[in-house]
Parts: sequence; structure tokens; C-alpha cells
Amino acid sequence: MIQKINNLRADIHNLKANNAEEIEVLRIKYLSKKGEIAALMNDFRNVAAAEKKAIGQHLNELKEKAIEKIDELKANFENQSSSEDNIDLSRTAYPYHVGTRHPLSIVKQDICAIFGRLGFSIAEGPEIEDDWHVFSSLNFADDHPARDMQDTFFIQHGADLLLRTHTSSVQTRVMEKTQPPIRIICPGRVYRNEAISYRAHCFFHQVEALYIDKNVSFADLKQVLLFFAKEMFGQDTNIRLRPSFFPFTEPSAEMDISCNLCGGKGCPFCKHTGWVEILGCGMVDPNVLENCGIDSKIYSGYALGMGIERITNLKYQVKDLRLFSENDVRFLRQFEAAT
Ligand code: DAH
Repeated sequence: MIQKINNLRADIHNLKANNAEEIEVLRIKYLSKKGEIAALMNDFRNVAAAEKKAIGQHLNELKEKAIEKIDELKANFENQSSSEDNIDLSRTAYPYHVGTRHPLSIVKQDICAIFGRLGFSIAEGPEIEDDWHVFSSLNFADDHPARDMQDTFFIQHGADLLLRTHTSSVQTRVMEKTQPPIRIICPGRVYRNEAISYRAHCFFHQVEALYIDKNVSFADLKQVLLFFAKEMFGQDTNIRLRPSFFPFTEPSAEMDISCNLCGGKGCPFCKHTGWVEILGCGMVDPNVLENCGIDSKIYSGYALGMGIERITNLKYQVKDLRLFSENDVRFLRQFEAAT
């Protein structure tokens, strides 16, 4: 009996297995009710009383050893199965959701890229501004309604700190520091004290473009506008300029594009006119150049400004402005393909 126990102990000590099934076969062989150790336990009944104590101890030790060994094989196998050798490279991949870029970012990048191809470089300025950069330098009269509390968020009563109401303030900042030629495109967030509704928000986004050099004319502006409209909305797009007024440009104009939904035939979107308004523009007022230390007898330039939300609405027909800031993933996921 002792001999049998020792032989089994040696066998168990040397057990090896390559996978879970092999381990199970070994467990059944040694540890199941009909296994070899159970058989020895059965024989134990016939052992002489004097030897029972010693042999019983050996038998118990053998059983413990066997359990230990099987556990050890299982543990080894589990470690191994997480190693690289066991990765199934042919398995279908988990669906992997990458984030999407925000529609306003997509459109902002498109606009900047189009102007980038014309040699414009990006300039940015602070959102917290002072009266000079947002209004005075840009030729706003002291009693201009835009300065009113109704439109502008002032940060502290009496202090000269406010949230910029347009990105035209970046024009001033760049012109103050740089002599022409200047060719910049300024994207950014702006703030106005408006009640929030489907068509107005207290913050939105604009892109401003500015070109200052010798002999810049309205014809240059018009050509750039046409190029931009065609690149942004397709080669069939037409533009028209309507006279307008901005304090910082003279002459000033607003640009419409032929409605990109009906192609100019007239539809509810363009209120059956065939045209939709997209931006303001004009020749930089000589007063603005002088305010920023640029000699208006030598230099001239044009500026234009547009709302990114407006362009995005035209491209993607987003009907409610509030969707842009609610971050509802069901809305944002719809721009996956455009990202
Ligand atoms: N700053 C104007 C606005 O917020 C937009 C604008 C109009 C910018 C004409 C310009 C421009 O540079 O020339 O409504």
C-alpha cells in the first residue's frame, strides 16, 4: 500500500497539461469518486489496524497533494491563456466608437482651410475684452446701440471689461501690433445679451477675415467672396452684394448666396427669394486703420465677418441653434461622416 501511495505521489508530482480539457481528464483520473485515490481509500479498509494511522496519514497527504497539483495546473493555464500566444486574431473586432468632431468645429475648420489656401493665417484674441478693442477702435460712436447693456455683457459695472460681441476685436489687436501686409482669419466665440431661443443664443461663433496691403480694392474683396462661396457651397453657387452699414467699414455690404437648397429657384428656406444672407463685409474704414497706427494714405484693406452657426445651418439644415450647445450625442453622432 505504501508503495502504491509513493508511486502515485511521484506520478502526480510530474503531471503536465496543455489545456483545460487535459486538466479535467487528470482530475477525473486521480480525484473523482472512481479515481485512483478513491480506489486507494477503498483498499484502506483492509489495512491492518496497527498500520491504519500511518497509512491514513500518507493517504490524506496524497489527496491534498493531488488537489494542490490540479489547482496549480489550472492557475498556470489561466495565466497562459491571457498571454499573447492565445489571442484569436481572426475574431471579429469589437465595434469601436470614435468621438465625432462638433459640427461647428467642422465648419470652422472648413472656413479656415479655404482662407488658408488664399494665404490667410489664423489669429486669435481674448474673449474678455475692453471697450477700445470691441467698439471705440472700430469707429463705433459713443451712443451706438451695440454698446448698450441690452446687447453687451459687461463683466463688472464701471470697470472696462466686457465679453466681446464680435471677433472684429481681433482685427484691432493684430493691426496694433503688425504693419501690413496683414492677411488673417480669426475664428472665435462671441457673446451677446440675447434671450435664448431656437434662433438666438447668448453665445455663438464668428469668423473674421482681414486683408490690409497697398492697393487693396473692393474688386479683390468680391473675388475672395466668390471663391469662398463656391468652395464652401459648391461651384454652382452665385453671390450678390447688397449695400449695408457697419461702423468699421466704408463702403459696407452684406453678401447673399444663391439658396443652396433650391439652387436659387425659390423655396421656403430662402423665403422664395432664391437668396440667403451669409456675411457682412466692406473696405476697412480709414479711421480704423489710423486708430491702429496704420497709415490710411498708404494702405487700404477689406474685412468680412460671418457667423459659424449660420454657415453650419446652411450646410446641414440644423433648425434649432440650441442643439449646438446641448451636446446631445444623438445630434452629434449625425456628423460622424463629416468629421
Ligand atoms: N462684426 C460684424 C458683426 O458682428 C460682422 C462683420 C461685418 C465683420 C462686416 C466685418 C465686416 O469684418 O466687414 O455683426
